[in-house]
Amino acid sequence: MAGFVCARRRFLAASVGWGSLASLARGSFRATARRPDRDEDWSDLRAAWLDSGAVVNLENGGVQASPRVVDEVFHREWESAQRLPALRLGRDFPAALDAVRSRLAAEVGCGPDEIALVRNTTEGVHNLLQGWRLDRGDRVLTTTQDYWRFHDGLAQRAVRDGIGVDAIRLPVPLERPADVVRLFTEAVGPRTRVVLLCHVVNLTGQILPVAAIAAALRPRGVAVIVDGAHGFGHLTDRVADLGCDAYVTSLHKWIGAPHGTGFLHLRRERIERVWPLFPSPASHRGDIRKFESLGTVASAPFLGIPPALDFWREVGPSVKLARLRWLRDRWLRPAGQLPGSAVLTRTEGEGAGALATISFPGRDVRRMADELLHREDILVRPIIHAEFSGLRVTPNLFNSAADLDRLTAALGRMLG
Ligand SMILES: Cc1ncc(COP(=O)(O)O)c(C=O)c1O
Repeated sequence: MAGFVCARRRFLAASVGWGSLASLARGSFRATARRPDRDEDWSDLRAAWLDSGAVVNLENGGVQASPRVVDEVFHREWESAQRLPALRLGRDFPAALDAVRSRLAAEVGCGPDEIALVRNTTEGVHNLLQGWRLDRGDRVLTTTQDYWRFHDGLAQRAVRDGIGVDAIRLPVPLERPADVVRLFTEAVGPRTRVVLLCHVVNLTGQILPVAAIAAALRPRGVAVIVDGAHGFGHLTDRVADLGCDAYVTSLHKWIGAPHGTGFLHLRRERIERVWPLFPSPASHRGDIRKFESLGTVASAPFLGIPPALDFWREVGPSVKLARLRWLRDRWLRPAGQLPGSAVLTRTEGEGAGALATISFPGRDVRRMADELLHREDILVRPIIHAEFSGLRVTPNLFNSAADLDRLTAALGRMLG
């Protein structure tokens, strides 16, 4: 038995790349003396990612690049799978995946039996929205600013199963946390069974007071599903402390894991009663891995998750967030003073992290984003929503103050 355990440990260490990570990254990005406002403290990190060439990348909201140390593990694992696919994917991958699951569970603060590895937030949340047991006439509460695919998912369930969907219109910019909690508690009705909300609203970057909302709704028996696409790896909350029933994220966003990775955390007592999108054996009804019944998938992206978590931990979650907020303010403060601009993101207190959006009433923001890219070599995201439009700017740790100053200067020229 002991021999087996040792062999298994050796196998896991080799297969998730911890050995080579030690030589590549461990200790190299330690954050002891990094100050958010001192660019020179961050210059070593700039080289931790591949260069984006001439374009200044200020669109790190949709999807992010992985640090090189993560790419390294990804490429090695990809190659290893190519040499003996049946052995690597068929025999070794399930155990390696369980090791990744345990690592994520430790970060979340839950058991490994409450974490499913999924390819992205879309897959995880659709499992929940389509699989949650709801009777005709039951209602789901969300907001008009939740992710559009999940509006589609709820609309499909409404047509198919006769559920009702209510959507709160969040103020822009957002109000104080206590007012936001009240919006949710007042919108819950007698048939509301589930609330779906974002940890961070992708359109404006606003952080929602998820823990307070979950605490207010729990006594009323309403389940809380959190779309954490922009939460995990960006903010510093421990997921278990949020008190939600389910939390889903994409690890190719703020953790910088390979593209096509995410997790679905579902509280143990909820697992049995949620149908998976892809059927699994009846004996797996209470097993979180029923959400992973996809058939053959690539192993390399998932094996790139541990080095991405290591990288994040080495930089330090709160040091990272402080730097991202400083970079945000570097552009948002001057840009908010430009004539004809209006800031859509409330930044006081814990209002926002890296993402922020600014509107230019009367202007076509899609054209503005095109111009920024083609004339100024700056990549940002136009946001077009039924209630507002704007440019969303999302810096990352590889950006410098000069990148943000270049954006404000370009905006000044466009508006001047
Ligand atoms: C709030 C929010 N939820 C979900 C998603 C979907 O993420 P993914 O494409 O990784 O599934 C996004 C994508 O940007 C998002 O912003």
